[in-house]
Amino acid sequence: MDFEMRIDEELSLTLIQPKDAEELFALIEANREHLTPWLPWPATIQTVEDERRFAESVVAEHAAGRIVPCLIRRLGRIVGGMGLVIARRRLGAFEQASADIGYWLVASEQGRGVITRAAAALLDHGFGELGLRRITIRAEPLNRRSRAVPERLGFVHEGTLRGAGWQDGRRVDHELYAMLAEDWPAARTAYHAMRFQTNREPAGPPGR
Ligand SMILES: CC(C)(COP(=O)(O)OP(=O)(O)OC[C@H]1O[C@@H](n2cnc3c(N)ncnc32)[C@H](O)[C@@H]1OP(=O)(O)O)[C@@H](O)C(=O)NCCC(=O)NCCS
Repeated sequence: MDFEMRIDEELSLTLIQPKDAEELFALIEANREHLTPWLPWPATIQTVEDERRFAESVVAEHAAGRIVPCLIRRLGRIVGGMGLVIARRRLGAFEQASADIGYWLVASEQGRGVITRAAAALLDHGFGELGLRRITIRAEPLNRRSRAVPERLGFVHEGTLRGAGWQDGRRVDHELYAMLAEDWPAARTAYHAMRFQTNREPAGPPGR
């Protein structure tokens, strides 16, 4: 299934496909030092074939309604990944679905709001089309850049999940941030009213 969610004039989300494996693998190779301290999965991707198998598995999980595995594209080129992992609680006819958002970005694209803008679009999709009630983001206590994303979007910091992650062969804590469906409209308005300065624009020529 193909899917493209336009975020704004430069950003879009598309579903991960096996045909993206080569481009993705090259990005992971070039960004290993940047990603490995914070994410457990880059170590499991050592060849293009590993990436292709990963893409095939997430396509199947998406078809089953368990995840929404996206690539982030800036001006058409892949610059990172972002996904929803959905948890459904069913009791007879009652069903309530929530999800966790995960993300990564190539080092050279940091500081432009790519992740925050993409996360806001995925929140719209999650609370809208997917009917989710609650969306969470988790980050290690020292991952300042990652924690800043839910903070910028008005998530509530609910606490610390002790030993909830696994990094470098050891358990690590996760800070838990959550947004409820009913709180998103006001948080969304507040986020879109913020004025950001992108600190990654090329500097002007010397002397100007
Ligand atoms: C975590 C990570 C994705 C954050 O990337 P990031 O570039 O800092 O986050 P964003 O893309 O949302 O950019 C935010 C920055 O852009 C600025 N910005 C500009 N325009 C913006 C806009 N429209 N909206 C939001 N922020 C904007 C913000 O002020 C902020 O600047 P700052 O870095 O000077 O504070 C990235 O550091 C990364 O991939 N790290 C390694 C992997 C990782 O940790 N993944 C998460 C595991 S929990």
